[in-house]
Amino acid sequence: MKIYILFLTIIFLFTETFSASRDPVRGKNGMVVSADPIATKVGLEILKKGGNAVDAAVAVGFALAVTYPAAGNIGGGGFMNIRFADGKSYVVDYREKAPKSAKRDMYLDSLGNFNSDKSMFGYLASGVPGAVAGLLLGLEKYGTMKRDKILEQPIQIAEKGFPLNYRLASYINSEKEIFSKYNSSKKIFVKNNGSEFLENELFRQKDLAKTLKRISEKGRDGFYKGKTADLIIDEMKSGGGLITHSDLENYEAKIREPLVSKYREYEIISVPPPSSGGTALIQLLNIVENYNLKSLGHNSSKYIHRLTEAMRRAYADRAEFLGDPDFVKVPVNWLISKNYSNERRNTIDTLKATPSVMIKNGAPTNYESAQTTHYSVIDKWGNCVSVTTTLNGGFGSYVVVDGAGFLLNNEMDDFSAKPGEPNMFGLVGGFANAIEPEKRMLSSMTPTIVLKNGKPFMVVGTPGGATIITTVLQVILNVVEFGMNIQEAIDAPRIHHQWLPDKLFFEKNGLAVDVVENLRLMGHNVVERGGNSGLAEGILVDQKKGIIFGATDSRGYGTAEGY
Ligand code: GLY
Repeated sequence: MKIYILFLTIIFLFTETFSASRDPVRGKNGMVVSADPIATKVGLEILKKGGNAVDAAVAVGFALAVTYPAAGNIGGGGFMNIRFADGKSYVVDYREKAPKSAKRDMYLDSLGNFNSDKSMFGYLASGVPGAVAGLLLGLEKYGTMKRDKILEQPIQIAEKGFPLNYRLASYINSEKEIFSKYNSSKKIFVKNNGSEFLENELFRQKDLAKTLKRISEKGRDGFYKGKTADLIIDEMKSGGGLITHSDLENYEAKIREPLVSKYREYEIISVPPPSSGGTALIQLLNIVENYNLKSLGHNSSKYIHRLTEAMRRAYADRAEFLGDPDFVKVPVNWLISKNYSNERRNTIDTLKATPSVMIKNGAPTNYESAQTTHYSVIDKWGNCVSVTTTLNGGFGSYVVVDGAGFLLNNEMDDFSAKPGEPNMFGLVGGFANAIEPEKRMLSSMTPTIVLKNGKPFMVVGTPGGATIITTVLQVILNVVEFGMNIQEAIDAPRIHHQWLPDKLFFEKNGLAVDVVENLRLMGHNVVERGGNSGLAEGILVDQKKGIIFGATDSRGYGTAEGY
């Protein structure tokens, strides 16, 4: 008997220590998680020097602009969700906006057909960048450190170079043909001797270092006015782009109220429009809250069926109602109300799929992309910052601003260029997200903070275009419903449905064959897809033990570092 008890104790100790995936990283005082190891280190150093979570997040943002060019950026935009330990919360919205001369039908040809090449690549694809305005507004209002200290490391890394890792070198090499179309981009991302970038090769960005120095010295004027602005406008003129000096000068990042809701005993804090992320996430959580998900089993067909039906309905609402709240009235409170979600849940048949066409019409596409990036930070005071930022597609418009060394976004593709016509993520939309001068295009970014007992519990977000919202949903449910640690929750296979196309996607080898068969019998159009859905970056706090756990998605090459 004694031996048996000893045996069980040993098993228990091992199962507590080891799980199905690698262990999350542990810290006591703070944690930074990002998609790039160098950027994570930059953020951690700021925390160790006494900076708060906002200081560290802003430093990570500028570092990613140097070391993670596919999505880290100063030529794009994002959302910073901040929750201070004293209970105050703010969202910095630095989403790009359409240039003043943008027109509703600017991507339609003479026959009224949508030309997605123009909204995805090149000069007409870019919205007015918001990243510099947003990062600096966040720092000035909510950070504690001086701008030059925050930018010191990113400038150095751009100037001295950093060793390319295998994944990044391969990614840049694979895009050689597109970069070669633009002289400014070719100079940086294509080698003139025809050879390829190699793993560990030093990647130096002198023009970018100079741009970052101007930002360090002059603040937002170092980007939206003067030399950098002149370089952006020269680049625009060289390729027929629409952004003007006054578009740049008039760009403003905005402080918005976060969306707050309850899921069981947890408080969910996420981002409002012009991202659809927080609204859809809360709606999804509300719809599934009344099911006993745990009893269904993780990724069982019954569980996936309920999630899918909730997703189908939330994304139909997204397409109809979500847009820039400064231009259209978005019924957010109604969408995130428990009453409305009860109505939506009542239309779900727990035994069979509701075809999307019965909820609303639209058109399909197969194109998928995941190039946005997320970082999560928590500091020793318990302040949390959750940031998602993007150029939209990988490397954005592929256009580098000559002499300034950074890529411009292709965020205009996030507008609904023609009602019912899918964008690069297959998302459709209507009037609420139609192109208008100076309007912010609808986003799916969902940087989220979860509280338990009024204290930080989880900080999470991800890239992944349309899949961002469903990834954040599943990571949260994996923790709160299925008791996974943050690494397991992030690594677990994910599914995705976005109403249109009417397809239930699952990651390669992500579902058992009999689960897929059951879902097909229920009427789902189940599709295995290559690639992955997002690269989530999360933090989970064990409030009893006072341990902060960090985890980066095993699908990527990011890191979590705590101290
Ligand atoms: N560009 C991706 C998003 O904002 O949703």
